[in-house]
Amino acid sequence: MIILKRPEEIEKIAVSGRIVGLAIQLAGERLRPGVTTREIDIWIEEFIRSQEATPSFKGYRGYPYASCISLNEEVVHGMPAKNRRIKEGDIVSIDVGAFKDGYHADAARTFAIGEVSFEAKKLMEITFQALDKAIEQVTPKKPLGAVSHAIQAWVERHGFSVIRDYVGHGIGKNLHEDPQIPNFGEPSNGTILREGMVLAIEPMVSVGDWRTDLLRNGWTAVTMDRSLSAHFEDTVALCSNGVRNLTRL
Ligand code: MF3
Ligand code: CO
Repeated sequence: MIILKRPEEIEKIAVSGRIVGLAIQLAGERLRPGVTTREIDIWIEEFIRSQEATPSFKGYRGYPYASCISLNEEVVHGMPAKNRRIKEGDIVSIDVGAFKDGYHADAARTFAIGEVSFEAKKLMEITFQALDKAIEQVTPKKPLGAVSHAIQAWVERHGFSVIRDYVGHGIGKNLHEDPQIPNFGEPSNGTILREGMVLAIEPMVSVGDWRTDLLRNGWTAVTMDRSLSAHFEDTVALCSNGVRNLTRL
């Protein structure tokens, strides 16, 4: 069941969304070789709490951290670790959720550490553009499949693959609400978009195979062929005057 949000509720999600956007920006500015993924997580958690919000992910189905930090072939749900140091040439996906005044927002960005390969740069650029193409499709009366299809078409046109094992989602009082938002599909399929929907759209894209393995920690998804993967996510709302991005600064 899709829960539509009133304008006052969307304003509250926007407050959480700004905190998420700022947390990711702050983490991105501090990234440098030698930093551990656990340190990044602590910066994020401290920032969220400084804003009188709480980290949405901590405690969600037993997940123990404020953020997911996924390096290189890790697709999503990378777990912060004090022995995991980022290094020159890595790509680092930072996924953050914040909860304030009863509402969640969720976003992710992939950052390059120093000089990265041409392929890594291209992957990041295409994935971010795929997110924007998807957001452009968020208009009343369109099927949700148009959003999914926009991601798949842009990604595959550039020779990359969309991850199929993880999806975007509705968001509001709960971190994950209906509808599920696959990153592939037919434009005419799916539920019809309407005012009041709030969606976390999150293309995950790999250079090679789209299939994933789950690491032994039970959380972290990696590409089966260990090819690089990028992840960009925004929380957007369908308002009377069009789509509004609640996590982009
Ligand atoms: N953006 C990710 C998602 O929507 C965040 C995972 S939340 C976690 O699935 F708590 F499960 F880590
Ligand atoms: Co999400």
